[in-house]
Amino acid sequence: MFGAKKVEAFRRNPGQRYIEFFDELHQRMVFDWYMEIGCRAGRSFAPVRGKTIAVDPFFKAEVDVIGSKPQLLIFQQTSDDFFASGMLEKMGIQISFSFLDGMHLFEYLLRDFMNTEALTNPEGVIALHDCVPFNEKMLTRDLKNLPKGPWTGDVWKLIPILRKYRPDLELTVLNCRPTGLVFVSNLDPANTVLRDNYEAILAEWTSIDLVPYGVGRFYDAFESVDAEAFAAADYPIFSKIRQAPATIRKPTKVTK
Ligand SMILES: C[S@@+](CC[C@H](N)C(=O)[O-])C[C@H]1O[C@@H](n2cnc3c(N)ncnc32)[C@H](O)[C@@H]1O
Repeated sequence: MFGAKKVEAFRRNPGQRYIEFFDELHQRMVFDWYMEIGCRAGRSFAPVRGKTIAVDPFFKAEVDVIGSKPQLLIFQQTSDDFFASGMLEKMGIQISFSFLDGMHLFEYLLRDFMNTEALTNPEGVIALHDCVPFNEKMLTRDLKNLPKGPWTGDVWKLIPILRKYRPDLELTVLNCRPTGLVFVSNLDPANTVLRDNYEAILAEWTSIDLVPYGVGRFYDAFESVDAEAFAAADYPIFSKIRQAPATIRKPTKVTK
C-alpha cells in the first residue's frame, strides 16, 4: 500500500509539573552551591534557599528571586561567555546541584553539561530540562519560528549521547510535565570524553531528527521514573549533597 509513513505516537509525561517538583525539593533541602543556566522570570530559582548562581543573557525577574538566599550571583550573559570567563574557578566555587535550562539546541546543552560537570562536586547532580518532548512541533531548531507552546528543540539527543559516550553517568528520567526532567549523577569532573569527542558528536547528531530516528526507540531506551514516587523515596540521588534548610542563616532586617 502507498501513502505517508505513519508517525509513531509521541507520549506525554503524566507526572507532577517540574516547577512544583522543584518547589518541594527546595523546601526540603539546600545546596552549597546551586547554579541555574536559563532563568528568565526567575520562577525556577526563586524557591532556592541556599547560595545561588543564575546565568541568562536576558533576565526579566517577575518574582522575588532573592528570598532568604545568603548569596546570589547573577550573570546576565550567555552560558558560553559565563564559563569562558572562568568566574567560578576564580571564586573557588564548586557546584552541588545545577538546573540547565538555557538554549534548547543540543550542542548548547552538551556544552553546558560539559562545562558544568567540570565544576561540580562528583557527588553532585545536574538536572537537564526539556529532554522528553511530546510532539513534533516542539522539536524545531528554527529559532525564528518557535512554536506557541513548550519548545524543547532537539535537546532530547542528550539522553542517547550521554548513554553512548558516558555510560559511567547515571541518568534518572523523571516523568515531570510537560517535557521531563533528567537528573545526571555519578559525575566525574575530570572526565574529558565529551570534550574530546565534541566535533564527532556534532557531526553524528546535528542532522538527526527524532521522527526518522524513531520516537518509540527514543522513549523505550529509558525508564520513566514517577516524580512524586522519587520525592516520596526522599530524593535518593541527593543524599550526599543535601543540607538541612536550618543550616542557612535567615536574613534579618538591620534598620527600619
Ligand atoms: C525556558 S527559559 C528558562 C525558564 C526557567 N528556567 C524556568 O523554569 O522558569 C530559557 C532561558 O534560556 C535563556 N537562554 C537562551 N540562550 C541562552 C544561552 N546561550 N545561555 C544561557 N541562557 C540562555 C533565555 O534567555 C531564556 O530566559
